[in-house]
Amino acid sequence: MRVTVVGAGNAGSTCAQIIAGKNIVQEVVLIDIKEGISEGKSLDLWQTAPINYYDTRLVGCTNDYSKTADSEVVVITSGITRKPGMSRDDLISTNVGIVKSVTENVLKYSPKAKIIIVTNPLDVMTYAAYIISKKPKNEIMGMAGILDTARYRSFLAETLDVSPRDIQALLMGGHGDTMVPLPRYTTVSGIPITELIDEEKLNSILERTKIGGNELVNIMGTSAWYAPGSAAAQMVEAIVLDQKRIFPCCVKLEGEYGLNNVFVGVPVKLGKNGVEQIIEVALNKEEQQLLVDSANSVKHVMDVLDGMNIL
Ligand code: LAC
Repeated sequence: MRVTVVGAGNAGSTCAQIIAGKNIVQEVVLIDIKEGISEGKSLDLWQTAPINYYDTRLVGCTNDYSKTADSEVVVITSGITRKPGMSRDDLISTNVGIVKSVTENVLKYSPKAKIIIVTNPLDVMTYAAYIISKKPKNEIMGMAGILDTARYRSFLAETLDVSPRDIQALLMGGHGDTMVPLPRYTTVSGIPITELIDEEKLNSILERTKIGGNELVNIMGTSAWYAPGSAAAQMVEAIVLDQKRIFPCCVKLEGEYGLNNVFVGVPVKLGKNGVEQIIEVALNKEEQQLLVDSANSVKHVMDVLDGMNIL
């Protein structure tokens, strides 16, 4: 089985590395438009196989999509990233052109691939890939919820001094400052989070989570890659191993949560068919309102994109 990662920048190469390390597919193709970068990174990664004990072959190529043929899953990470002071939405006009040409090239050789979008602004780029690809909605999804919940879980683990593994959490909405972490659906090994932390500390973690991407852009001058690459690799694993895992992912809603024709993060089941189910959990009035507000802010950027007449 073959998986392709488009874009050999930090997030893409991290994603390829993590997928290869899981030893779950025969080949990972890393492709980029920049001459030599994919070839070099793939060779370097392949040289970690004897050390890290995996068999997955790594193939790097410059813009030659024939090498990606018949990929089961394609992760699209290409595009420019944020600099301090930029919002994810500021990237839209440059990145939509990139996502358009990448999606068209991918589909020429892998018409059946499940596509995972990592490029920002995440929710709107997932919408763009959906329109461009004309694929069924279960085969197009965006990676953000796993990343955002991972940030939330890591902050909680640090504050509570417990293993991050034991923290289960749910977060919905767009991948931006309007995301909706759900403390009511957060537990530590089944113990409601509210039993273990006071409200003030929890609120400050929720606020930090919402701007978790920004925090890193401000520290590093560019956006994050280890957690984003790892999160996308976890989605690939769930699909290629047909794990039926439940993760928050960005998908097209058609009436779920009372929302229509908008791409936002909600809990879904991931298996060999991609998004196999959208799970609707009960939200209270306040949570529902936050989700609607978040969806409206994504919808606004989707409308901006529509107005550009690029798709
Ligand atoms: C972040 C970018 C990848 O949240 O959106 O780090």
